[in-house]
Amino acid sequence: MKDINRRDLSADDWDELNFPRPDEQEFDRVVERALSRRGFLGGIIAFGSGAAALGAGMLKGSTALAGTARFAFDGIPAATDHTVHVPEGYDWKVLVRWGDPLFSDAAGDFDHETGGSAAKADRVFGENTDGMALFVIDGRQVIAVNHEYTNRKVNLPRAEGGTPRNAEDVEKLQKLQGVSVFELAEGPQGWQVVVDSPLNRRITHRTPMRIAGPAAGHEWMRTAADPAGTESLGTFNNCGSGRTPWGTYLTCEENFNGYFGASGGFAVEGLAAEGYRRYGISAKGWGYDYHLWDARFDVTQNPNEPHRAGWVVEIDPADPGSTPVKRTALGRFKHENAECVLAPDGRVVVYMGDDERGEFLYKFVSRDVYVPGGDTSTLLDEGQLYAARFEDDGTGRWLALTPRATGMTEAEIAIFTRIAASRVGATTMDRPEWVAVNPVAAEAYCALTNNKNRGLKTNAGGDWQRVGGPNPREANRYGQILRWRPAADDHAAERFAWDLYVMCGNPEVAEGANRGSDNITAGNMFNAPDCLVFDSAGMLWIQTDGKDSNEGPFAGQGNNQMLAGDPVTGEIRRFLTGPKGSEVTGLVWSADRRTMFVGIQHPGAPFPDGEGKLPRSSIIAIWRRDGRPVG
Ligand code: FEO
Ligand code: CA
Ligand code: CA
Repeated sequence: MKDINRRDLSADDWDELNFPRPDEQEFDRVVERALSRRGFLGGIIAFGSGAAALGAGMLKGSTALAGTARFAFDGIPAATDHTVHVPEGYDWKVLVRWGDPLFSDAAGDFDHETGGSAAKADRVFGENTDGMALFVIDGRQVIAVNHEYTNRKVNLPRAEGGTPRNAEDVEKLQKLQGVSVFELAEGPQGWQVVVDSPLNRRITHRTPMRIAGPAAGHEWMRTAADPAGTESLGTFNNCGSGRTPWGTYLTCEENFNGYFGASGGFAVEGLAAEGYRRYGISAKGWGYDYHLWDARFDVTQNPNEPHRAGWVVEIDPADPGSTPVKRTALGRFKHENAECVLAPDGRVVVYMGDDERGEFLYKFVSRDVYVPGGDTSTLLDEGQLYAARFEDDGTGRWLALTPRATGMTEAEIAIFTRIAASRVGATTMDRPEWVAVNPVAAEAYCALTNNKNRGLKTNAGGDWQRVGGPNPREANRYGQILRWRPAADDHAAERFAWDLYVMCGNPEVAEGANRGSDNITAGNMFNAPDCLVFDSAGMLWIQTDGKDSNEGPFAGQGNNQMLAGDPVTGEIRRFLTGPKGSEVTGLVWSADRRTMFVGIQHPGAPFPDGEGKLPRSSIIAIWRRDGRPVG
């Protein structure tokens, strides 16, 4: 296992390598699959042809925009090189890289021989920038941003194979992940980090957290270090993000299972044992080897510690001394992001994807309403969690995960949410990534990034991954973007209508449905949509984390990229290409919307510092040369 470079594999591929899923093939299921596939793909292709008409019909109050070009740029070609490209009339520069100081006690030239010290690893910008949000706090602009995982061979360049050699190496990895909160300001050199701002903060795998909601205090949440089950250390594998209407940051714990390992057996039974299998807790972990140097991550000694990860965590960026809160009412799974929107009656709706093959799409609806200026401290603790079920006829329903429907207690539903959703018959999805809500129309979008097991295997809970509905392609290698419109324009409603905004594909080399929907062309094709963010005008920005071989089925698609999509016409244009090996993830705008900030995660070559240097994940700033807004 150790000689495989984590950076050559997607997170899911790595998980599967370590924790293979069971195969399942039954003759009648294969027949059912073939029939529904033939029937449904006809519908998808028809949708592609009629995207403009369907879209205009769905979008409340936006028909005036149909037919007008809403793009402020010409699409750019695919690229295969080691830098960033943006359209004519735009420019970019690096805002901050892994290892750049957030505090002056970590200032000085970055050490490309060592990748920096463990002692200062939580005083610098962390590794693998991902989801982010921008806040204006007392007139200061502040970005909160996730550091998803580490690239061990890069971050520990002196450790053979990137394998931690001692507790100090583990300490460094733990401190390079989590979240950065930093102030930025625009000066003569453009946007820069405000080093030593009183709002700057690092949150890591070691930061004290409070556990709130239905799982708090449950016996499966208790450990020797925390017998009450209400306080944990660290937030893990922080992938996508969210922003509440009251100005807090939501960071989402995704592939948390990879940090745990076992020195011996697992003393877990019943639902907990089922949970270990479903969430992929394994003896070897994913190579971080924390468990060899830090007993907290050894599930032989601390079998409940993994239950304290896999949550959405709320952080107040205005108060650097505040304790982040794990909001267990939002469920425990491999959280992608947490997209917040208010229902017409003021209840808070949070849409969330669970990014693993055949897992589910969720939403939470708060019990209480949001009142501006009111107490928001428990708004995300009381409410109803739902999982989505999709029908082939373009309708769907949110299934409430209640004790009555699942046969589980509220705490069990929170801790083993995947099991609860399986019990109510939610629809297995093609890896739900980010959800984004359109600010100018009552609709939401979710990137379904890909799923090589669709139609071929069950998910980890034994639920068959049927070909059909919003997951219409067997062994789906390109991905698609799903959208839904809630009944009565109310995101709290239990019913919705859905369609596919785009089916990614390759019209140059692929056949049939793998060519993609009609809004995919040789000039804009891409695979594996991941991060989705709307701008203020209602344009959908799409970032990718896919195969960048530029060969075979992916020929002509080049490096990972960022595109903009018009929800009304369906048109999609490529705006940015990232350096080879990188994933493009995370997008925010400055308060005046004249600069966009985009994350470049795990570049393969020595971006941005050049030959002989370590590759460094970076946030870049992009602006128009004429100074006009960019979204
Ligand atoms: Fe961390 Fe699902 O992307
Ligand atoms: Ca992602
Ligand atoms: Ca990703």
